Amino acid sequence: MNKKIDKILLKKNKSKIVSLTAYSKNIAKILDKYVDIVLVGDSVANVLYGHKNTHQISLENIVQHTLSVKMGIKTSLLVVDMPKGSYSNVKNAEKNAKFVIKKTNCDAIKIESNKKNYKIIKNLVENKIPVMGHIGYTPQFKKKFTVQGQTKSEAYKLLKEAKLIEKAGAFSIVLECLSPESAKLITKELRIPTIGIGSSLNCDGQILVTDDMLGISGFYPKFVKKYINLNRLIEKAVKKYTREVKLQKFPKKNNFLNGSKLRK
Ligand code: KIV
Repeated sequence: MNKKIDKILLKKNKSKIVSLTAYSKNIAKILDKYVDIVLVGDSVANVLYGHKNTHQISLENIVQHTLSVKMGIKTSLLVVDMPKGSYSNVKNAEKNAKFVIKKTNCDAIKIESNKKNYKIIKNLVENKIPVMGHIGYTPQFKKKFTVQGQTKSEAYKLLKEAKLIEKAGAFSIVLECLSPESAKLITKELRIPTIGIGSSLNCDGQILVTDDMLGISGFYPKFVKKYINLNRLIEKAVKKYTREVKLQKFPKKNNFLNGSKLRK
């Protein structure tokens, strides 16, 4: 296995795994200084392309975003979300995952569970493709955005699913929108680390969509903490620029290109 993955595995029960999404180099470069895992999420479909779900993003498009993100990454583990339809059977999953790895040189791919695709994970792992699983609210397969595992029997069903994913060889698993009790049970029972989103503190790590926590996406469910209102800051800057252009306060003399110097 990859050394970056070994580092993630060693964190189980020791220190929390920090993870965020990125779709481009400039953001990835900042995240890389702080987080353990950068995910090129298929949430790019909603966040950047305005789709109502994650389903319309193509493999080529994810590859394109990953190539940009990759330029900003030095130390963190780069995981790429496989889009809906790109892993519908063992054969196309292998072909498409190999395509993503070959084109981007990413460290791992993530696939959502539909409670049937364990063989697909197993085959990918046997082909030396590291896989991150994803259970709970899985946007590619579930229509209703609801809390998962609210009863004891639901929690045990989720545990069974998570264990089968672990058995298939996944190196970690995202728990999305799980009740705190379910997250606790699964995190305790699995050997591989759990990365929670909307699943309480009872996980080995956390992930958020970066655009949500920066206050730029406009999507803020209860589990998102807005660490900054970047929309407001960007608007402030654009407003100032607009005013200065209109009042001819920009560009100033020190922005003029008289002489040979192009950079400051
Ligand atoms: O697509 C995505 O951003 C994700 C995370 C929310 C886990 O799958």
